[in-house]
Amino acid sequence: MIIEPIVVRDRLARITEHWRPEVIARLNGQEVKLVKFKGAFVWHRHEAEDELFLCVDGTFRIEFRDRVVVLAPGACLVVPRGVEHRPVADEEASALLFEPAGVRNTGDVEHPTLTAPSHVLDTERLRLRRLCSDDAAFIVELLNDPSFIENIGDRKVRTLDDARAYIANGPVAMYERFGFGLFLVALKETGTPIGICGLLKRETLNDIDIGFAFLPAHWSRGYAIESAMGVKAWATAELGVKRLVAIVLPANTSSIRLLEKMDFRAETTIRLTDCGDELLLYGCALD
Ligand code: NI
Repeated sequence: MIIEPIVVRDRLARITEHWRPEVIARLNGQEVKLVKFKGAFVWHRHEAEDELFLCVDGTFRIEFRDRVVVLAPGACLVVPRGVEHRPVADEEASALLFEPAGVRNTGDVEHPTLTAPSHVLDTERLRLRRLCSDDAAFIVELLNDPSFIENIGDRKVRTLDDARAYIANGPVAMYERFGFGLFLVALKETGTPIGICGLLKRETLNDIDIGFAFLPAHWSRGYAIESAMGVKAWATAELGVKRLVAIVLPANTSSIRLLEKMDFRAETTIRLTDCGDELLLYGCALD
């Protein structure tokens, strides 16, 4: 591990876009980011995260519904979770942010231009992006769908808090460690979340495996294969992965058909835990 200083001024100089936070350091599941402000941001709140703003250059204010706090260089402020706020800068200003990894900059609001892309890849009809705590309601719905419980398993995620913990300890922890994980799949046209698809690195498997799950309302339209093909191509192009595997219950014939269409071949059977179900392991060489 290389331990080197991070020169805030140099990193700021490289930022050209306003309202696009750039991660400069990660620690303990948190991220340190730099961002340039100009104009007024969108009103939003973060249900589960407190955010620290430290003013680096210029002057900006954090507006709340009932008061305004002005920050000059060297001053910092913690915006508590659940409190609606928006940063505003009349002239360009810059800030250092400290908050849990994976926080969406516009919190509970999906804004067409201001929401920073946690965007991973696009396919013809779909957009894949990193999951964040704001996706908790969707995750509760997906993971409790009878088809998910039957074909994948019961993750025992019942409440929004369960889902936030699942997102933080599962996908977000994996993004931090490996740069990949399960991503949210949304329809490009409407932004509607329809499922998850992505890559996993499990303790119990040597290879990276591909995983996917969609709400039944969106089945039979080719979305699963479209997103999985997108992830497969992304794994090759962006990560240089040479081989992917997939694990699937023998009864899950629709996923097996999909894997075979994607050139995965059955290799062996496997159990992830001693008392776990017997699974089929499929493999695919990438080029
Ligand atoms: Ni915020």
